[in-house]
Amino acid sequence: MKGVLLAGGKGTRLRPITHTGPKQLVPVANKPVIQYAIEDLKAAGITDIGVVLGNKGREAIRNYLGDGADFGVDITYIVQGDPLGLAHAVGCAREFVAGDDFVVYLGDNMLKQGISALVESFERGQYDAGIALQSVAEPEQFGVADVDGNGDVTRLVEKPDEPPSDLALIGVYVFSPVVFDAIERLEPSWRDEYEITEAIGTLLDEGRAIDSLVIEGWWKDTGKPADVLEANRLVLDDRRDETPPIDIESDAETTGYLDVHDAATIEEGAVVRGPVSIGADTTIEAGAYVGPYTSIGPNSTLRNVHIENSVIVGDSSIATDGKIVDSLIGRGTSIGSADGLLPEGRRLVVGENSNLDL
Ligand code: TTP
Repeated sequence: MKGVLLAGGKGTRLRPITHTGPKQLVPVANKPVIQYAIEDLKAAGITDIGVVLGNKGREAIRNYLGDGADFGVDITYIVQGDPLGLAHAVGCAREFVAGDDFVVYLGDNMLKQGISALVESFERGQYDAGIALQSVAEPEQFGVADVDGNGDVTRLVEKPDEPPSDLALIGVYVFSPVVFDAIERLEPSWRDEYEITEAIGTLLDEGRAIDSLVIEGWWKDTGKPADVLEANRLVLDDRRDETPPIDIESDAETTGYLDVHDAATIEEGAVVRGPVSIGADTTIEAGAYVGPYTSIGPNSTLRNVHIENSVIVGDSSIATDGKIVDSLIGRGTSIGSADGLLPEGRRLVVGENSNLDL
């Protein structure tokens, strides 16, 4: 069994963060999203992994993952180029897959329970595909599956007005190589993409057996800023009762789970309430407050600010008396306070496609 990790795409919904880097490298609890997928593949015994790259952010992903050795896997890069759809991205991996069964993992998706159960279920039968499903509140927004008592898929519909079930397809699939022939026969959809759901639908029409597994633990597609914050909250929440990785040598007021890099500094007079994650060479100065569900990336300084439920990617300086909540702050951001002489009001330098609630 091989792994194919999709790391191309446009990333429009995560602008402006994706203007300068791929969304698969956005950190959740100070670890890039794509690394969670690599770890899930490895935990399922899959170490031969093809990473499909788009046009943007290719080098950044190659630089981070390298040949995979740091993560205990073996990575082959496959260039898709323009994002012509998930099925097209999978089709680009045909040569790499070379006749094996394989898992497709969307590089911006995260699953609490990993993918081992899905892979094992697929391997127990004679299937040509296996899909991960989750019960969702608004199945109209998703590809939806109908399954029989054995979990075999009987019908697949994309964004149905009248969903046959509340079971949505989520970002992990298992395939036998017959899927490549189905992909080759696809026509672009109304949104001009080659759709993976349509390729699976073709397999179903051909009478091929398709397995499914309902995923019980949380699943998150981190395609939008609010989803990144939610994934960060979920990961930190799961660690709440864990013993922190290091003892914090600080006279600061600290409580709860604190994942603090040993090269970070929490000054006396700062308040940090976990669960939080703080990266290397970051300083939380006296007077700053870091509240639950916050991840602060490396090389950053926090002064005076009160921040909670937020992700700071890194290389940032946040020095304001204000309160920052529910925020995703891109790399290299500087937030300061105006001195008292200027007229009252907020002074902003904001990039394209930013979202601010003031
Ligand atoms: P999506 O989030 O569906 O698409 P996108 O990345 O273009 O984002 P947006 O809609 O915000 O513009 O992609 C899911 C995953 O699959 C993500 O990791 C990117 C990857 N992908 C490819 O590798 N190739 C593709 O052609 C597409 C569409 C996505």
